[in-house]
Amino acid sequence: MDVIDRILIDQAAIESRVKELGAQISQEYAGKTITLVCILKGGLMFLCDLAKHITVPVMYDFMSVSSYGDSTQSSGVVRITKDLEHSIEGKDVIIVEDIIDTGLTLSYLLNNLLSRNPASLKICTLLDKPDNRKVEIPVDYVGFTVPNEFLVGYGLDYQQLYRNYPYIFVLNKKYYTNNAE
Ligand code: IMP
Ligand code: MG
Repeated sequence: MDVIDRILIDQAAIESRVKELGAQISQEYAGKTITLVCILKGGLMFLCDLAKHITVPVMYDFMSVSSYGDSTQSSGVVRITKDLEHSIEGKDVIIVEDIIDTGLTLSYLLNNLLSRNPASLKICTLLDKPDNRKVEIPVDYVGFTVPNEFLVGYGLDYQQLYRNYPYIFVLNKKYYTNNAE
């Protein structure tokens, strides 16, 4: 299809990696109940698939943050647009995120969630783009380490589009518009 420049991670690769992550998490949290905190909207598809492969009891909660604007660059200014519904005090929490790029979003979220006194707090990201990191983030579970390119699909968007694709791809240049910021 014309919108796709190049498929970076196909559906089968995502499925098998997500299954492995689920198994690893299940093993490491044996005997515990996990609270998965999904960062909307990018983390949603990953959460749904990951949760199917976790065999210990799981609760979900959702949080929405925005770094101002719809740019392909992180602004570094983060604001919570939807907060968790439940307290995470004393809970074993795993943040489920689509991608860590500069790390600014997660750095803010980590501090924010740590101040709510969970029993433990880990990070599970589908994609890690380490080349562009501006702040160190202790990432516990990574699906794939990816190059410094703007990616869409499987939860990741460009101006809210392409999240529904079951694989991760590089968008054809002609679909980028210049009104992003
Ligand atoms: P960070 O604060 O720079 O780590 O960026 C985190 C957020 O920026 C992610 O949760 C995504 O929503 C968005 N983001 C970063 N890189 C990409 C990308 O390649 N494609 C789509 N969204 C991205
Ligand atoms: Mg986004």
